[in-house]
Amino acid sequence: MPKNFYITTPIYYPSAKPHMGHAYSSIIADFFARFKRIDGFDVNFLTGTDEHGLKIQRAAEKKGLETLKFCDEISKTFRDLSKTLNLTNTDFIRTTEDRHKNSVQNLWKELEKNDDIYLSKYSGWYSVSDEAFYTDDEIEEIDGKKLSKISKSPVEWMDEESYFFRLSKWEKPLLDYYEKNPEFISPKARRNEVISFVKGGLKDLSVSRKSFSWGIPVPSNNEHVIYVWLDALTNYISALNYPDMDNELLNKYWPANVHLIGKDILRFHAVYWPAFLLAANIPLPKKVYGHGWILSGEEKMSKSKGNILDPIEIIDQYGLDPLRYYLIKEVSFGNDGNISKDRLEDCINSDLANNYGNLCQRVTAFTIKNCEGKIPKDIEFNQDDLIILDKFKDNINLIRKKIDELDLNFYIEFIVNSLFEANKYFNDQEPWKKKGDIKRLNTIIFTTLEIVRKISFMLYPIIPQSSLNALKIFSINENQIDFSTIDNHNYLSKLDVINKIDILFKKIEKQND
Ligand code: MSP
Repeated sequence: MPKNFYITTPIYYPSAKPHMGHAYSSIIADFFARFKRIDGFDVNFLTGTDEHGLKIQRAAEKKGLETLKFCDEISKTFRDLSKTLNLTNTDFIRTTEDRHKNSVQNLWKELEKNDDIYLSKYSGWYSVSDEAFYTDDEIEEIDGKKLSKISKSPVEWMDEESYFFRLSKWEKPLLDYYEKNPEFISPKARRNEVISFVKGGLKDLSVSRKSFSWGIPVPSNNEHVIYVWLDALTNYISALNYPDMDNELLNKYWPANVHLIGKDILRFHAVYWPAFLLAANIPLPKKVYGHGWILSGEEKMSKSKGNILDPIEIIDQYGLDPLRYYLIKEVSFGNDGNISKDRLEDCINSDLANNYGNLCQRVTAFTIKNCEGKIPKDIEFNQDDLIILDKFKDNINLIRKKIDELDLNFYIEFIVNSLFEANKYFNDQEPWKKKGDIKRLNTIIFTTLEIVRKISFMLYPIIPQSSLNALKIFSINENQIDFSTIDNHNYLSKLDVINKIDILFKKIEKQND
């Protein structure tokens, strides 16, 4: 089986600076990309910015900037954020690039050729903020304003000539596809939502706009620009050089393994996108995962609600890895989650500084003092040692399976439990009382060091820099991190010296402590 893996984030609207919700999507995608890489996969990881449409055109007008110049500036803040978040994306696509425009126009031509596109007129509601069409039943009126019931964003009436995509034709093939591929939409609850939406009947979809020009022109009619979602979704293949179907990237990485998205954009990814692909005879992605929202209080964090938490501020105050750890551990993956500084500080103090950092320091100091700073060689595992070591060996394939199901919660729980057990093991074994039994003392130290190594390997996708800092104990570098070795109890026997390392996490003095 080829060990290739392709994961994507949504491409972000550069209508305003990135916020914590965007950082969340990207960090989670980076987690999976890093895990797959240390498990021997060749990973393609795509992110980028979604720059066309009325939303962006209006945002630029508001700032009094020429639209492309506006996009250049804000797209750069997203690109910079990728570096700040230590993402390992292999590409960053902008929908204003020629490679993308060319790809979208080709997909359009393909749909047209297959008679999936026709010219008509759209009369109905449109939300510029969501770049989405809504039916009468999806609209409510609050304080004299018409809003989408789903997103609560304002809608405006639209009445114009438009090309349509024959979405209705794909209702049955889509339902068949969902049925045959139960893993396609995750988590399960969201799959059910999508299925009942499609079963409710699909209407043909308006896929062009005539009343503004900030978009990719319809190839056969320059008066229209292509609907921004048809444009945006194509990024996932334009980055692989579509329409060149024989090129290496497309062959290697398509269909994508995972489109990671927020739950608000599931309909576009689980209904429209697969329908476009079916119509163009292109294989469908293997999985679309709709994660929950980062909330501020009870509400989704978003620019229009003015309740934004700036990831950069949090990183400046606490550091990147604590933020990555916090988002992965404290926001139950798949559900909404609140972010609070108080809980972030608890995570730093108890999980990172106490349970992980302190264990690394303790065992290193102990080895330096009692074993001349060398990995002990004369050892013999007893039942207690094997119980804690075997946990990794026994679960290695289960962990892989859970990762394939994107069960991030299982992964982090496994680590948290392992850290707890490792600390308990070290305390219970009381190596400081074993100075008269060198072999036993050596074995306890060796076992604890092995556990620190295994846990540091597993922490690498979550807190990459801190994991690398910890692995300096063994002089293990990034290229040597290999998940398939976590079942090896004797990995360290081939190594020699132990190094003292700097404190991994500084404890935060809490005001109420
Ligand atoms: N441009 C479209 C996506 C096109 S993909 C072909 C878009 N952009 S967005 O900038 O509005 O949102 C990008 C992603 O960020 C979405 O997955 C969205 O769910 C996510 N988030 C935006 N706010 C969020 C939170 N408060 N919490 C978590 N994620 C949220 O939609």
